[in-house]
Amino acid sequence: MTPTTRQDTVASLRARLAATERQAASRQRQLERYAADLREVFKQERVRAQELRRSYMSTVRALSNAVEARDAYTGKHAERVAAYGLELARATGLDVAASPQIEFGFLLHDVGKVGVPDAILFKTSALTQEEYALVTKHPVIGSEILRDVDFLGDGKLVVRHHHERWDGAGYPDGLSGEAIPLAARVFAVADALDALTTDRPYRPARPFPAARDEIRRHRGTQFDPAVIDAYETVGDETFVRLRDGVR
Ligand SMILES: [Fe+2]
Repeated sequence: MTPTTRQDTVASLRARLAATERQAASRQRQLERYAADLREVFKQERVRAQELRRSYMSTVRALSNAVEARDAYTGKHAERVAAYGLELARATGLDVAASPQIEFGFLLHDVGKVGVPDAILFKTSALTQEEYALVTKHPVIGSEILRDVDFLGDGKLVVRHHHERWDGAGYPDGLSGEAIPLAARVFAVADALDALTTDRPYRPARPFPAARDEIRRHRGTQFDPAVIDAYETVGDETFVRLRDGVR
């Protein structure tokens, strides 16, 4: 190869190298633009998802308040029980952040009581067999009302199964043990805790430690032992703080 030919080859190689470098730099700039666009889309999606969740939550609260408005006596029961339920769910190891529908279910658990007449719901004397049968229909009525509300997801299982018992003696389906959805097993304890620590027409509220003793007695019969064990890891002061936060 003559010196001139060699120089030509080197010049041509340099030119190709420079062209390749320009192409690579342009591709990198393009990729950086894509990445920036993608980041922006993700940010907007996150904001939209938060807005959507907020509007779901306000809809659920509106519905829950409409149910509670009937019953001046238990006032804010749904909000308290939802707060206790979330605390117990976390202690039990349920990933509440991953399934926000659980909280919706806690808030709406008694929505089916709209189908129970006031005269029965607020009766202070003992219920007749027929009246009791009607009251026990509220989980089914509730899950029917919410059947087509897709965003409630597994929250609907809490509505249907919040009166099942670990030993299978509950209603409406007589499920037992782990056949009962975990969120409903957790909720059952929260519901009992609020019922016991709230004044009722036929008895005064019990302090949280006395309510704990009572609930403990039903470990393995009414309540899932694992949920009770989780409950034992949460101090009464936490529940008092949650109750006072709802007032
Ligand atoms: Fe209920």
